Amino acid sequence: MNPTASDVTSTPASRLRCINCGNVADHAEQDFRCPSCGDLFEVFYPRWNASRGAGVPGLDSQSLKQLWRDRKTSLAPADTSGVWRFREVLPDLKPGHEPITLREGNTPLFDLPRCARSAGVDTLQAKHQGMNPTASFKDTGMTTAASFARQENFRWVACASTGNTSASMAAYAARGGMRSLVLIPEGKISWGKLSQSLDYGAVTCQLRTDFDGCVRVLNDLVRRKPIYLLNSVNPYRLEGQKTAAIELLEQLSWEPPDHIIVPGGNLGNSSALGKALIEMKDLSLISRLPKLSVIQAEGANPFFRSIREHGGKQLIPTEADTLATAIRIGNPASWKKAQRVLEATQGTVEQVSEIEIAIAKAEIGSDGVGCEPASAVTSAGLKKLVRQGFVKKNERIILVLTGHVLKDPEFTLKFHRGDLFVGSVHEKEAVAMVDQQRAPLVLDANTESVIRVLDELEAKKSS
Ligand code: F0G
Repeated sequence: MNPTASDVTSTPASRLRCINCGNVADHAEQDFRCPSCGDLFEVFYPRWNASRGAGVPGLDSQSLKQLWRDRKTSLAPADTSGVWRFREVLPDLKPGHEPITLREGNTPLFDLPRCARSAGVDTLQAKHQGMNPTASFKDTGMTTAASFARQENFRWVACASTGNTSASMAAYAARGGMRSLVLIPEGKISWGKLSQSLDYGAVTCQLRTDFDGCVRVLNDLVRRKPIYLLNSVNPYRLEGQKTAAIELLEQLSWEPPDHIIVPGGNLGNSSALGKALIEMKDLSLISRLPKLSVIQAEGANPFFRSIREHGGKQLIPTEADTLATAIRIGNPASWKKAQRVLEATQGTVEQVSEIEIAIAKAEIGSDGVGCEPASAVTSAGLKKLVRQGFVKKNERIILVLTGHVLKDPEFTLKFHRGDLFVGSVHEKEAVAMVDQQRAPLVLDANTESVIRVLDELEAKKSS
């Protein structure tokens, strides 16, 4: 039976549901935890009649695709956002409330021919989420959650971060006229990211701990002060972040790829992208699910171990350490959501070494695209998945590059100068990187010395 008009209008368009006990709520406490069991909430849409194929009320799958395509020519602020363009599958803001938007989303798909060759696959593409306004994927979730914070009249928003969430939050809070408080681990985030949160006016606290320690302090803080939490336990963040997968499917003319490969840190992004894929299938916008796989750094691999050693039934927090500082996380909040996504999409999990990450990052750079270290785990992981036969040579594969190359220039410079692993346990293995290294040359200021360099390079090439 289809819902009647009065059913549709009396039911809220979106509600919160606990992923563990199923408790349904229309409002969350400030820590965004289920008051009954302490687990996470997710947003769901009770008016969707997905299982009976009716979908979003009044809009079948073809009409939704058409509506979203038509908005690309609109100049209205919500339509120029690559997130709010998909607002039929997002929670509504109350009448009279506008989104805080920086025209996020709308990110490109790039071919990576050199990386494809290196991984041994025919073709490879990257969805570059580093091309967002603050140069990471976080903006797509921040536009939604920050808009809800403003709608609820919060003066302060806060997050614990490895640098990208904080940069994004600081920007959106500033645009929305709110104050922002950033808790970051001292000495463990890149300068690019730290400088962004300062520039956008956040109160930036470098705590003498790691990311997981910052999360602990923040959780306590939001229970004691009227501060809106903008970490990815906030389910409105994930609703915005999921639109990257919808935009990707649209870019592929709604023909799903075989594989989507994402980095795993706190596991909000993999959860969000997977949620979108499942919803798009339920709403009949796609006919099958791509496999979504998560790659972690060996030094920050609690999810890898949870899946491999405990069948995804439990997660044992670890002490995390990796130069890919964005994913230096030992106790990921959204691991249960991510585990369900792997199960639903038949994806897998892998881990990659520091050297593999560094080489993969340089290869992505050599395709003229570039990304930050955490994003490069995707390409490094792909190589392993191809070797294992999980990814086939002729399949369609999308890497999600989560952050821009300029987020962490220190890593790139050290890599090319050969300093990245000096004095570390990886020093010996680092010889594997020599082929990719292009240290800057210091020359006398005359044309002859530049010509000599060119001639030497040409001679090397032809020998
Ligand atoms: N890639 C980048 C560039 C990131 O900044 C992050 C997370 C991830 C991947 C992992 O995504 O946590 O959703 O699994 N950065 C967070 C931050 C933790 O605070 O900026 P995830």
